[in-house]
Amino acid sequence: MRRVAGFAVAVIALAPSGVFAAPPAPTFTKDVAPILYNSCVGCHRPGEIAPMSLISYDDVRPWAKSIRLKVASREMPPWGADPRFGKFKDDRSLSADEIETIARWVDAGAPKGRDADLPSVPTFATGWSHGQPDVIIEMPVDFQIPAEGEVPVIDFFTRSPFTEDVYVKGLEVRPGTSAVVHHAGLYVIDKLPDGAKLVNGQIVNADGKPMGRNQVARANGGSATEEIQKLLSYVPGRGYEEYQGDAGQLIKAGSYIDFYMHYQPTGTPQKDRTKLGLYLAKKGQDIGHQIYHSFSAAGPTAYIVEGKEYAPRWRADQTRDEGGVNLPNIPPYAENWKVVSVHTIREPITLYGLTPHLHLRGKSMKYTLTWPDGGEEVLLDVPKYDFNWQVYYELESPKRIPAGSKVTVVTLFDNSPKNRYNPAPEKEVFWSEQSWDEMYAPQARLTVDSRTLKTTATATPQQKH
Ligand code: HEC
Repeated sequence: MRRVAGFAVAVIALAPSGVFAAPPAPTFTKDVAPILYNSCVGCHRPGEIAPMSLISYDDVRPWAKSIRLKVASREMPPWGADPRFGKFKDDRSLSADEIETIARWVDAGAPKGRDADLPSVPTFATGWSHGQPDVIIEMPVDFQIPAEGEVPVIDFFTRSPFTEDVYVKGLEVRPGTSAVVHHAGLYVIDKLPDGAKLVNGQIVNADGKPMGRNQVARANGGSATEEIQKLLSYVPGRGYEEYQGDAGQLIKAGSYIDFYMHYQPTGTPQKDRTKLGLYLAKKGQDIGHQIYHSFSAAGPTAYIVEGKEYAPRWRADQTRDEGGVNLPNIPPYAENWKVVSVHTIREPITLYGLTPHLHLRGKSMKYTLTWPDGGEEVLLDVPKYDFNWQVYYELESPKRIPAGSKVTVVTLFDNSPKNRYNPAPEKEVFWSEQSWDEMYAPQARLTVDSRTLKTTATATPQQKH
């Protein structure tokens, strides 16, 4: 950011003196539009999540100064990874050259340029971003979102339509009413607990009480994290994932899909019925390995909180979803509250991607790999974590990591008033999936090399109805 600002100042200072000939000022049509079409209009176009369109010169001109600011500070496009570490697919960040071009264009008065230079406006898929899915599963009911107030996060379960096991290669979540869907988590559970029933999208126990998915998992005899398979998350700007190589997601016949929904009221009553689209393995496609979302699939994790080793405990009475891990509460006003987790890799894995998940006090997260010979490599550094932009950083090419390695994740939380997203610095912060509580989830996408799935896909199974 400094470097870019410095460059722009140098241009202004030198051009009038005539000592060095400044390069001709960039124009919208020739230099800036290609950058916007490539990196911005995916969100900044009518009907999308961003507040204004950035397609035509007339759209863009009033925003020129604001655009300069947001790209120089790297707030736009939203992308948290420090460019020095790792190479990621769909990296939407701008290069230093592109930022300089925008800065020089704004400083030159944001000229339009020749119409003939304007590239054609990109076309976008409407609806599903990667074509029609093989199978679409909907929330079982329309949920009514009130005009105001807090809506607690809620699980909606529905029986999957599959009568045989299927292997998924790609998934997309599409909100019914995107304005109200703050985020969504999609999960699969294998069966209903004994005595439980599915009633209007809720799993209710023998006493008629609704059960959250972690309670369902425990009732099925597992711990919360082992018995439920996460499928993917939706947040604005992210809702599609696919699995490279021979990685895939097994969904068993007769299993249940959980839509774990976080709604935000918008001032008027709304309703929502979110959908999950699945792209199944094609006939003959090898699915050799199940995808996992946490390093715990490959070995144990040690936690160090504020310099002290800490063994997380699960409270037996916990009825809400814990999410992530229970750590000591964060004290009021703590500014650089540090959590380190050391993930031992006991068996060889293939790493496909990383996705830091923290809530509003999350400040930074950095993943470092230590190879068995002691050599180190930063996998991902997100120096300014932003809860509003939960990015999935998919590695450009999958990484084989041998047994005897470890991944160390260093995370800072900021519960001080300096954190502009902090809703209540005077409060001690607890751990839960509610966004006003905190979460620590250094998520990943990986396969464990020794844990093979059966098979080559047979024909794409049909939906039952
Ligand atoms: C992934 C979606 C996405 C992409 C890509 C994206 N933006 Fe945005 N942008 C948003 C959203 C949503 C907002 C409003 C909320 C916010 O400010 O975070 C926004 C806000 C802005 C604002 C501030 C608007 C205001 O009200 O002050 C500017 C300026 C901006 N974007 C410019 C850009 C530029 C330039 C690019 C490309 C280089 C870009 N954005 C890429 C989603 C996106």
